[in-house]
Amino acid sequence: MMKAYSRRETLVLAGALGVTACSGSGGGDNSSPPIATPSPTPTPAPTPTPTPTPTPTPTPAMTLAAAAATRGMRFGSTLAWSAAGADAGSFANPAYAALLERDCQLLVPENEMKWEYQSSAENVYDWTRADAMLAYAESKRLEMRGHVMLWYIQERFPAWLRSYDLGVNPRATAERLIRSHVQNVARHFGNRIKSWDVLNEAVEPSTGAVRRNMLADAVGGDPSIMDLAFRTAREELPTAELVYNDYMDWGSVTHRNGVLALLRGFRDRNVPIDALGIQSHIGFYSSGTAQSIADAQIPGMRSWLDQVTGLGYKLIITELDVSDRNRTGTIAQRDADVAVYGKAWLDLLFSYPQLKDVLVWGMNDKYSWLQNFSPRPDGQPVRPCPYDAEARAKPLYDAIRAAFQATTAR
Ligand code: G3I
Repeated sequence: MMKAYSRRETLVLAGALGVTACSGSGGGDNSSPPIATPSPTPTPAPTPTPTPTPTPTPTPAMTLAAAAATRGMRFGSTLAWSAAGADAGSFANPAYAALLERDCQLLVPENEMKWEYQSSAENVYDWTRADAMLAYAESKRLEMRGHVMLWYIQERFPAWLRSYDLGVNPRATAERLIRSHVQNVARHFGNRIKSWDVLNEAVEPSTGAVRRNMLADAVGGDPSIMDLAFRTAREELPTAELVYNDYMDWGSVTHRNGVLALLRGFRDRNVPIDALGIQSHIGFYSSGTAQSIADAQIPGMRSWLDQVTGLGYKLIITELDVSDRNRTGTIAQRDADVAVYGKAWLDLLFSYPQLKDVLVWGMNDKYSWLQNFSPRPDGQPVRPCPYDAEARAKPLYDAIRAAFQATTAR
């Protein structure tokens, strides 16, 4: 059973974040969707007071979309596929759709544009789900990002490709497969998608080297397959934002250095890439307070970001979530840690004017991929998203909004 915030906990946390915690009406610019705030001690019934006249019009709560917009930024989220009405992180679940429509300017399909799941044979795709998601986004005037053309891990290739015979000229075959796949995707969605993760996770985190896979091996391990994906995407989509996306974060120096080397190589070869997608699946991998863990990691991350932006890359936060997997304590304490840690991450990244778009990998804890992929050892659900399983805004929600409000306009 989930423990909700006490009023005191809410206020302590809000103070730590520099925001006003609102549990009633008239929240003004800092008001939140309701954070659960049952009082631990019964309070005496208030003495009725005369209603002031005129009754003030409540200021609409400032959503994440609105907070982002005040800084020339945008906020968004992933969404998954489900049948209508299913209990899922899908636009077909009205409760989840309400969160998307409330807080987002951007959406991204969690799985429905992936080569692995949508292609059953060479040049054969089923875009039914992605098309429905895109139609939904457009009907709500939300912009959809594309994720992902080429995920550089063999296990993430479609089954037919994994058993494909590349023949006597594997380089030519690999190049043909990549060119036609990027063309197929680009031509299907056209200019309706304005930003694409063209390449995902090409660097092996433990070594910093470019990953091997059957297509990379077919060209002797040189970067030409990756370059070809971007060049083909640029030919097909001259105005789209083309993104290299990866999950290096402040705990992974080797991974970061590998990505920096990759990005340098792309620049040296004039490969058309506009932005680095920083996935931002962040978690706690050492002990201490959330703030002290963040503080210890910020200088190294900042120096790396300086180098990435120095190469001329824009930045996007593409898949933010903040896992409490390795934190103990009450739900309120863990949520507070997640908020402090997430805010430190956002403050650092928002200090770069090259970053405008921020997407979370799910709005609601209940549907997060982390519930299955990286569960808590104590069996309790993880709480990595802005909203809890009952769709109540959490301290991470306030932290994201506070980070928008604390940064400069761009
Ligand atoms: O669609 C099948 C379904 O038919 C089957 O019954 C079910 C049984 O396991 O599996 C379903 O496929 C699952 C798929 O998600 C769709 O739900 C896969 O098992 C599961 O591995 C897959 O996980 C996704 C993962 O990428 C791999 O594609 C996660 O939902 C998704 O959140 C995750 O997203 C990635 C980003 O694309 C890249 N960055 C990291 C991020 C987290 O891993």
